[in-house]
Amino acid sequence: MAEDRRYPAFAASLLPHVGTYRRVLPVSLERLYENALDWEHLPHVHASSFTAIEIEDAGPWGWRAVTKTSRDERLVLELRLDRECRRWITRTLEGANAGSEIWTHAFAISARRTDIVVDFFVPNVEPSARERIGNAFADLYRHLYDEDVAMMSERQRQLDKRIESERDAESVCLGSVDSLTFPLRAEMAGRDYVVSRVDGELLAHVARCPHQLGPLDAAVDGQVRCPWHGYRFDVRSGECLTGQACRLPCGPDVSVRDGRVWLERRDKKKAAR
Ligand code: FES
Ligand SMILES: [Fe+2]
Repeated sequence: MAEDRRYPAFAASLLPHVGTYRRVLPVSLERLYENALDWEHLPHVHASSFTAIEIEDAGPWGWRAVTKTSRDERLVLELRLDRECRRWITRTLEGANAGSEIWTHAFAISARRTDIVVDFFVPNVEPSARERIGNAFADLYRHLYDEDVAMMSERQRQLDKRIESERDAESVCLGSVDSLTFPLRAEMAGRDYVVSRVDGELLAHVARCPHQLGPLDAAVDGQVRCPWHGYRFDVRSGECLTGQACRLPCGPDVSVRDGRVWLERRDKKKAAR
């Protein structure tokens, strides 16, 4: 029998409610929680709204950070996640609209569909101005969620693909070297790679970021930068150049034999960086 649970009355904010934004998102509740806790993506995925973020504290409870908006405003934001009640509350502690609260409740409709209800509470707002301010918040959230859905859906797609594609790698012929234009994308054993020329040499690197599977493009000056959180990697050594504790795994070897380009699996010993 399903567990019977009761929760206390909805503890609404004491601030004036200026509006609500509601949307069914094509992602799981888990992807949404992950996204709520992911403070790092703000100036990258939402680059038109935020230009910088500096974290003060973070944990499974949420995070508090100093952000810079695209209008060059400094905001101190805090997000608190309450999984038990399927909600997270974002508060502006300092800056424009200081004291405002955004309450997001999430309702799983199915494994990959979640209904969200986002309520905006703003202090010191005349009743006549509530609708205008509420609409401005709703427009902003529509835009932010458009960007988040693109990231969350792509991450889910890559997670699913990873599970499906645990096959042994072999080798793959990409075609004659004269007919190929680099950089190019290639697949081997279900994994995607980007093959590009680095200092005149053909090199393959994984097309997915080791952090959270963000999409990686061709290397520029021997480096790739992930658009989701801005981590940069040296494609030769795999070193993370922005200092985070992750490495780009080795791609397959690229060789040209009899005028044809091959991707070949490295032996395990060589591949372990
Ligand atoms: S997925 Fe986070 S930096 Fe690439
Ligand atoms: Fe986001």
